[in-house]
Amino acid sequence: MTEPPVQKSILQVLGGHRQTVPPVWMMRQAGRYLPEYRALRQTAGGFLDLCYSPKLAAEVTLQPIRRFGFDAAILFSDILVIPHALGRDVRFEAGEGPRLEPLRDPAAVSALRNEVDHDVLAPIYETIGLVKAALPPKVTLLGFCGAPWTVATYMIAGQGTPDQAPARIFAYRHPQAFAQLVDRLVEASSSYLVRQFEAGIDAVQIFDTWAGVLPPAEFQQWCIAPTQRIVAKVRERVPDAKIIGFPRGAGSNLSRYTDEVAVDAVGLDWMLDLTFARDAIQRKKPVQGNLDPLALLAGGAALDRSVDAILAALTGGPFIFNLGHGILPDTPISHVEQMLKRVRG
Ligand code: CP3
Repeated sequence: MTEPPVQKSILQVLGGHRQTVPPVWMMRQAGRYLPEYRALRQTAGGFLDLCYSPKLAAEVTLQPIRRFGFDAAILFSDILVIPHALGRDVRFEAGEGPRLEPLRDPAAVSALRNEVDHDVLAPIYETIGLVKAALPPKVTLLGFCGAPWTVATYMIAGQGTPDQAPARIFAYRHPQAFAQLVDRLVEASSSYLVRQFEAGIDAVQIFDTWAGVLPPAEFQQWCIAPTQRIVAKVRERVPDAKIIGFPRGAGSNLSRYTDEVAVDAVGLDWMLDLTFARDAIQRKKPVQGNLDPLALLAGGAALDRSVDAILAALTGGPFIFNLGHGILPDTPISHVEQMLKRVRG
């Protein structure tokens, strides 16, 4: 007789089943707030070299699981491996964030390669196998990609920008060329996510970090529609693929995203009203979120209060505790421990 398989609490929630104690993980949980990450990072050369080194990337993926016992491990990589695998030059300068060769005009978009080079991404698929073999069976292994809009903002500007103005202007001036770029990213991201599932990933998150700058019509065109297409394409190949959507800053557009994009759960940012989150979003789909990363950084009574308000609002339905965006590098380890204690009781 074989043992019944161990249940992964996050997959349970993604299937619509409320857990008595909500499962918890943190966006950017593998990263610079961890001394063990900073130590390993120094030995690894460039940031992309680390993403493409299966043994090291697997180790970094597992670090927060060992230290905190989170309910999910998120694959250590970056959303900008997709532009890299589309043949663009991508670098991470120390202390400066990403630098890409910008797409300056429609001609540059037309000249992009049609398909991602999976040979470039192969080390990432290998990392998934290594993590899978080392992970406790109750821990969910999450893969991810950036949503087309968010990845496009970096490809057009060549770097992070405060208001994503270069991509917004490009999309207004050259809607056809911008649509062509988004089409390439839909193709690239879907085939990347399918490969992640084939390599053993349990569920994926689609990060639309910059969705919040789009007016409603553009939110429909550049956030909702491309994400719908990715979800459909992934499910053509992986029919039961579990997918979390995170359109950060969507605000009142979040109802439409929840209704129209067939994700299994919706990630909430920290700005979202909790009553709206419960009544308008969680009534329809499982939700994940949404502690303010700065409340976690600040700690103390404000952290307890923020955690309690989220638990009070959202634990009546299917819910995964998380931050409302990535953990900040200056966050003390003890604050993460305080948060976990409070969530797990
Ligand atoms: O969540 C995890 O722990 C998994 C790994 C992960 C990273 N980036 C590692 C990383 C994930 C899921 C991402 C997603 C990502 N990358 C997003 C979407 C989510 C978000 O945070 O908004 C975006 C917009 C990026 C692009 C990116 N990568 C930027 C803007 C930067 C520089 C700024 C920063 O936060 O450092 C990165 C670099 C990066 N990605 C680091 C890590 C651990 C730091 C690099 C280093 O160690 O020097």
